[in-house]
Order: sequence, then structure tokens, then C-alpha cells
Amino acid sequence: MSDTINVLLIGGGGREHALALKLRESKRLGELWITHPQNAGLARIGKPVDVPVSIREIYRLQQFCEKNNIGLVVIGPEDPLAEGYADKLAAPGRLVFGPTAEAARLEADKAWAKQLMKASSIPTGDARIFTDARAAKDYVASREHPPALEGKAQKLAGKAGAELPPVIKAAGLAKGKGVIVPSTFKEAYEAIDRIMVAKEFGEAGSRVVIEERLEGPEVSVLAIVDGHNILVLPPCQDHKRLLDGDKGPNTGGMGAYCPAPVIDDATLAIVERDVLVATVDALRREGIEYKGVLYAGIMLTPAGPKVLEFNCRFGDPECQPLMARLKSDLIDLLCAACTGTLDQVDVQWDDRTACCVVMAARGYPDAPKKGAVIEGLDDAEKYDGVRITIAGATRTKDGTTAVSGGRVLGVTGLGTTIAEARDKAYAACDKIKFEGAQYRRDIGAKPSR
Ligand code: AMP
Ligand code: GLY
Repeated sequence: MSDTINVLLIGGGGREHALALKLRESKRLGELWITHPQNAGLARIGKPVDVPVSIREIYRLQQFCEKNNIGLVVIGPEDPLAEGYADKLAAPGRLVFGPTAEAARLEADKAWAKQLMKASSIPTGDARIFTDARAAKDYVASREHPPALEGKAQKLAGKAGAELPPVIKAAGLAKGKGVIVPSTFKEAYEAIDRIMVAKEFGEAGSRVVIEERLEGPEVSVLAIVDGHNILVLPPCQDHKRLLDGDKGPNTGGMGAYCPAPVIDDATLAIVERDVLVATVDALRREGIEYKGVLYAGIMLTPAGPKVLEFNCRFGDPECQPLMARLKSDLIDLLCAACTGTLDQVDVQWDDRTACCVVMAARGYPDAPKKGAVIEGLDDAEKYDGVRITIAGATRTKDGTTAVSGGRVLGVTGLGTTIAEARDKAYAACDKIKFEGAQYRRDIGAKPSR
């Protein structure tokens, strides 16, 4: 175990910076190579690869790995996974952490994932899949005006038309924005037009999943999977809406904390058995071996936990509080997942709670404005129990750090209680200044939601 290993980390966001910081703590790390030196945080700790990073020229990255004796490739985001980077970069003597393109379909094709869940009785909302906008709207209309019930049935059903409109989802990858939760039926029809006719999310919207509206608190349950063993990570809760009180548009995630007490141990055990294990088994029956992170977005409905979506990677920002709490060696853990030996690792977590507040640029999520100079980062980093990850900030020629993306920073505090973790994160946020900075003030404020 004492041999060092050269690692190539693919991806350029806050999640990857959190992974890089953790990789750097490993005694086993040889050289750390990165694909996104534009990220000021990654640039500080990794060496940029000197070849193009694209699936069309993947042979360049393969050659790079050979030349630089890369022993482990870690793929952060969903797009390269869906494109098949894991398939192409695996080689004798080189491990790749992340599922194959076939397995990543679980995230990249919501229609396929829904069918798989239904076929294996994995708890999830009822849904229909459409390739035609007209048929999709007719279906929504049938929900808006259900056939008249007679007599007793009508009394039992209560007020006709009280049903909430269903949720409209582009089946393909849409940077976390392809899900529309309409408040009225009119918005539901408009959502179908936006996705299928105006093609707001491109080809991702050539099929839609129309799903019953579920209610309840949400929780992110992530597991590391090695093909057959499953290691469930402590549950996290994300905050997807832009504004305090879960108002405003959906975003990639404005903050997350871990562990999330909203899910108790008994329910977590149900999710492990009925969702995570059941999904890995269902995939195996299709001839697909799953390796990497399996992330289940769960809604805790009155009828039990149900899957809203699967992701095939660490969540962003869930990765930040998870990495802040992980005490074990990340390289050991990722290598065990690649070699099917997860049952042999003993993973240790910091007992404290971690709370990550995302600071975003002016105009995020629709039209983030780039260029604002960020001040106070060094001061904020000095706080005990605080770590800062960079998502969308770059080092400029004149030596400043400037906003270069929508989500700019993740500020994570560790505390013995969630309140202490939040206070630390917010004290650090208050030190950081950039024009137009927006962040929620209520991350982790209501952990029982
Ligand atoms: P997804 O990307 O599928 O997780 O959806 C993004 C967000 O939309 C989720 O975090 C939920 O807040 C919401 N959502 C998705 N599906 C449903 C559903 N069936 N009922 C209610 N809300 C949903
Ligand atoms: N935080 C939600 C996601 O990564 O998809």
C-alpha cells in the first residue's frame, strides 16, 4: 500500500476541487493531474494535462495516461461518464473511478431509468414517457380533467380537479435544469412546449418523462459501489432553489449539509435495500456492472421513500460536506471501488456535521455575470473548521481571483452541531466579497424538513 499512484482528475467544478483537496491528503498520491486549470482551486494543487480533453480525441488522453503512468482516473461530472470516458480510459494497470457509459445511462436517460425502476419494483413516482408533444399534452389533459366519477366514488375522490399538475422532465442530460415542477396545468403544457418544441435543452428533450407530483422532504443518499458491494455514505440534504425558504428557480444546488437527520436509520436501511441494492441488482440482470458513485435523490413521501432521480457521480455540492467529513484515505476508497474490494475497507467519518454554503454570481442561474474580483478568500480560509472549494473562479493575469462561472465558491464549516457548522460557514462567507454575490442564508436552518 505504500506505493504512490499518479491520479488524473477529470472535471472542473467545486465537487472536483473538494475531491482534489482530499486526494492531496493521501499519502499514496504521486502526481495529481487536472483537466481544468481555469479553476483557481484546482490550478493550485494539480498539474494541467497538455492534451485536448474530448471524447472525439480520446486517444490523446489515453496516450497522456500511458506517458505519465496514471494509475487512477477519477471522473467527477456526468457528461464525460455518459460519453464513455470510463470505458475508454480503463487499461491494464490503470483504474478508473466512475461507471461505464452503459451504467451512466441511469442518470443520462431518465426514461430508461424509470423503466428499469418500474420493472424491478424500485419505489418511484408513477410516470409515462412520451416522444410526441401532442400525446404528452393529451396525457396531462387527462390528469387535469379526469373522467367523471359517479356516486360514491366521486364522494371518495373529493373535489374534482384538486390534483396538482405532474412534473415534466427532459429525459436526457440538461445540467440539472431539465426538470420543471409546474404549479398550474397551464405551466405544465408550457413546460412540454419548452422542452419538446422549443427544445430548450436540445436533444435531451426529445423524450419527456411525465411524473406524478410527490410531496415530502428530500434527501440525497449516495453510495460507493464496486460492482457488487455497496457502501452507503452518510445522507446529505441539498438546497436546490436559489432563494431562502426554497423560493426561486431550481439551481445546481445552493448548499448542502451532512449528515441529514431528516432520514432516520430505519428509512436509510430501506433505501439501501429497496433502492440501492435493488438497482445494482437490476442493472446486473441487464448485464451491466455498476462501479462508482450511485446517488439516489429521494423524496420521503407519506407512502415511504421514493426515487426522484439517480445520478452516477458525487453530488455537487453534496461532495463538499462529504469530503470535509471523510477521515479515511480517499485513494484507498476509490481504488477499492475499482477493484471490487470495498468490503475490505473500514471507512471513518468525522463525527461533526459539515455545512456547505454556495456563493453564486450575479444573474445565476439564468445568466451568470463573470469577471467580478473576489476579495477576502485568504481571511475566510483562516477560520478554524472552514474549508473553501472553488467552483467558478479563475486566477487572472494580474494575480487576482475572479468570478468565471455561475456557482463560484463552496464555503464549508464543520461543527459539533448543525448550528455550529452553519455559523462557521456563514462567518467565513461574510469575509468574502465580490460584486453581485448571492447566497442563501438558510442552508441547514431547518434540518428536519
Ligand atoms: P431531479 O433532477 O429529477 O431530482 O428533479 C429536480 C428537483 O425537482 C427535485 O430535487 C425535486 O425538488 C423536484 N422534483 C422532481 N421530481 C419530482 C416529483 N415527482 N414530485 C415533486 N417534485 C419533484
Ligand atoms: N446537488 C445535486 C446534484 O449534484 O445533482
